[in-house]
Amino acid sequence: MSEGFIHKLDELVYNLDWLPKSRKIFEDFRADVREKKPIEIPDPYQAAKYFYCIRHSFNKLIHTPMSMVKDWKKDWGAELKYSRDKIAGTTIENLDFEELIDRYNPRKGDFWYLDPPYIVATEKGSYYNHSFDMEDHERLRESVQKIHDNGGYFMVSYDYREEVAELYKDFDCRTLDWKYVGATEEARQKGRQGQDIYFKNTDSTL
Ligand SMILES: C[S@@+](CC[C@H](N)C(=O)[O-])C[C@H]1O[C@@H](n2cnc3c(N)ncnc32)[C@H](O)[C@@H]1O
Repeated sequence: MSEGFIHKLDELVYNLDWLPKSRKIFEDFRADVREKKPIEIPDPYQAAKYFYCIRHSFNKLIHTPMSMVKDWKKDWGAELKYSRDKIAGTTIENLDFEELIDRYNPRKGDFWYLDPPYIVATEKGSYYNHSFDMEDHERLRESVQKIHDNGGYFMVSYDYREEVAELYKDFDCRTLDWKYVGATEEARQKGRQGQDIYFKNTDSTL
C-alpha cells in the first residue's frame, strides 16, 4: 500500500479525512478493491479505499464484515507516521518461503518463525489469497530442515492435522490453547477459544 501514496501522502490523508463511516461506501470500496484490475501507482485514492476497508473491517481483515467499532476520528497523518516508525529496522520481502530462506541463508543461532497457511482454514475457503497444497507443506518441511541443519532455530505454527504432525514428527511438538484476542475490542469481546500446534527445534518454553 505504501507505494500507492508515498509521494502523495497529503492526498491520502485528505481523502481519509473526508470519508464518513458508511456501510454503502464500505461495500462499494471493498468490491472495488477486490476487483482484480490494473492500478496505476501511485494512486492515493485507491490507497484510501483499501485503508478505509481494512480499518472498517472486523479484525482489520479485508474479507470480514463491517466492524461495529467507531474509531474513525483520527489524525491519519500521525497514525501513518506511527506505523512507519514501528516498522523501521524491518525488511519486508514478498517471496515464496523457499526463495526467502535461500536468500537469507539460515545461520547458526538464527530464529525463524514460520506461519504458513493452515490446512483447516484453507479448506474453509476464501481465507487466504494464496494457500498451500500438500506439496507446499512438504517443501516447507524441507526448508525447515535446512534451518535446523545450519544450526538455526525455528518454530512453525499450524492447526492440528494428522498429516502435519507426521511431517514434523522428528521435532518437538507443543499445543497451545488460546483465546482469540484480535486486533480490535470487538474481536476481543467475541473471543473464540482455539488450539494451535507448534513444531520447533528449540528448548524455549513456548
Ligand atoms: C497463517 S497466514 C500468516 C499470517 C501472519 N502471520 C499474520 O499474522 O498476519 C499464512 C500466510 O502465508 C502466505 N503465503 C502463501 N503462500 C506462500 C508462499 N509460497 N510463501 C510464503 N508465504 C506464503 C499467505 O499469503 C498468508 O498470508
